[in-house]
Amino acid sequence: MPGESKLTLSVITAAVGGFIGHVSSHPDILDTAKEWLHTAREKGLIIDFHVLRCGDDLELIITHENGPDDRQIHELAWKTFMACQDAAVELKLYAAGRGILKDTFTGSLKCMGPGVAEIEFAERKSEPVLILMANKTSVGSWNLPLYKIFADPFNTPGLILDPTMLDGFSFRVSDIKEGREITLKTPAESHYLLALAGSPSRYIISGVFRNSDSDLAAVVSAQKCNIVGGKIAAKCEPAAIFRCQAGFPAVGEVMEAFSFPYLVEGWMRGSHTGPLMPVPFYEANPTRFDGPPRVIGAGFQVSDGRLIGPHDMFDDPSFDEARRTANQVTDYIRRHGPFQPHRMPEPEMEYTAMPIVMDKLRDRFKKIG
Ligand code: F6R
Ligand code: MG
Repeated sequence: MPGESKLTLSVITAAVGGFIGHVSSHPDILDTAKEWLHTAREKGLIIDFHVLRCGDDLELIITHENGPDDRQIHELAWKTFMACQDAAVELKLYAAGRGILKDTFTGSLKCMGPGVAEIEFAERKSEPVLILMANKTSVGSWNLPLYKIFADPFNTPGLILDPTMLDGFSFRVSDIKEGREITLKTPAESHYLLALAGSPSRYIISGVFRNSDSDLAAVVSAQKCNIVGGKIAAKCEPAAIFRCQAGFPAVGEVMEAFSFPYLVEGWMRGSHTGPLMPVPFYEANPTRFDGPPRVIGAGFQVSDGRLIGPHDMFDDPSFDEARRTANQVTDYIRRHGPFQPHRMPEPEMEYTAMPIVMDKLRDRFKKIG
């Protein structure tokens, strides 16, 4: 990338049709997406692309020079999803198109259903990036690892060993209930940050900046306009982008945060709490109780906008224990059946039959005493 010209890395995700049920994606869908993006690359609209999937969520990874929230790039992604949706309908794949909320493109993908994580930067001499993509959970699920990666020296020794990181990082937090956001600076405000980020269904860390120069270090697919009626539209296909090394957390410091399969919201019917299991690409097929929720990691070296990779980051036996723990937690928490805290609290559930149950029972309730 000559001079100061900036590159944009866009990760745009949507559920266009499941194979089988909500478990995985059919190869025809991925091929359709690749064809569309290949043509766009031939035409020079984008520099490079890669297509992945996590569970039944399709992930378009695109590099270009148009900046974030660009109409042409969003329209390309939308048309690609539409073509994939047609392919899904043709195969009668499950819930084809349920992830796209609107039929007509109106200028931006925000508020249309897909998840959008975009980061713009001047490419460094060497630019390692990690893209984490999850399935059967929601965007607030990145709060815990984001805190550990950028504010906890027990996870990230670079915070005290790398002079560029000594001043810490600032976190942009969206309050999706009130539709407002705040920026909190760590380490000084880490307690305020934890007070908010510990409620990931309401407060969502959407971006992280380095204090020393305000350089953007990480973004998640939770921009303001993705919020529709107090809920993140891209509920089930959260993605996060991390720039790594040389003044940002090392690749291993980002990965370390996922060695603990922490509990997230989502899973069966988007209404259950369960462990986030880090898996290689080929194991991103959540079958048990439609889960447990999965996260995959794609590592790239970005070279003049080209995506060199991906490296399958969780394809490493050092994550075997995290997977084993996730399975043990799954056995334990599943035994709670329909009881909280396995089943999520009523207002957070994606599915509920409670209004119908209450309708049926309303007249039979009697005053106590
Ligand atoms: C959760 C998910 C699945 C479905 C479940 C019911 O995000 O995708 O757990 O919610 O399989 O699906 P429907 O309502 O399509 O029968
Ligand atoms: Mg899905």
